[in-house]
Amino acid sequence: MRKPLVAGNWKMFKLIGEAVDTVNALKSQVADVTGIEIVVCPTFTALHPVAQALKGSNVAIGGQNIYPKENGAYTGEISPQMLLDAGCSWTIIGHSERRQYFKETDAFLNEKIKFALGAGLKVMFCIGETLEEREGGKMNDVLCRQVTHGLQGLSAAQFEQVSVAYEPVWAIGTGVTASPAQAEEAHAFVRSLLRDQFGADVAEGVRIQYGGSVKPDNAAELMAQPNVDGSLVGGASLKADSFAAIVKASLC
Ligand code: 13P
Repeated sequence: MRKPLVAGNWKMFKLIGEAVDTVNALKSQVADVTGIEIVVCPTFTALHPVAQALKGSNVAIGGQNIYPKENGAYTGEISPQMLLDAGCSWTIIGHSERRQYFKETDAFLNEKIKFALGAGLKVMFCIGETLEEREGGKMNDVLCRQVTHGLQGLSAAQFEQVSVAYEPVWAIGTGVTASPAQAEEAHAFVRSLLRDQFGADVAEGVRIQYGGSVKPDNAAELMAQPNVDGSLVGGASLKADSFAAIVKASLC
């Protein structure tokens, strides 16, 4: 049985004070929740104060990106070791906004994933097709390329620390959610890719989160799909009430 993973990606939102207020409200609302792994991914400046606020709670912390070096002359970058030091146990890697705006390639993302895992962080690896790719009939090719190259060379043991987040780019921040059937179709395909490349045990064990306009009122039907093992939530994770409602709706 795969334990659902519900994570909030706060992107470039919230100053430190707001971030701490949000997690203080969130942790009491989800204090009784068991059986779901809950993660919030604030901006870098808020990581440490948020980690302090969440100490002893059932909510873990993640970064939104890493650079694959421990330290050095890499102006503006952050290492997995620094995220761990700030209190993180997770990082997001390969979000479509990083692929699109910062031109991150599959090969670079593969390097980042391996480096983050080697440092002891768990990884949410994002994949997903654009609307143009979907309408052009290229969805499966794109997902295949992202999975094959992005996860190349990982061992079965490393996969225990990896979750794949399927985030169709056309559903991110648009209010257009993939239907439960569309999500299930893509997730089942991703799982089949994992099976082909890494074997049945890895494929059955890896969680595949859905991301893209997840809200309290659509979370339960998405989570009810057999291959949907959680969510990666943007906008609706910014408010404690709506994120807590998504967590609770995922308890099916
Ligand atoms: P929204 O939930 O705002 O669509 O964002 C999804 C996302 O990009 C999570 O990483």
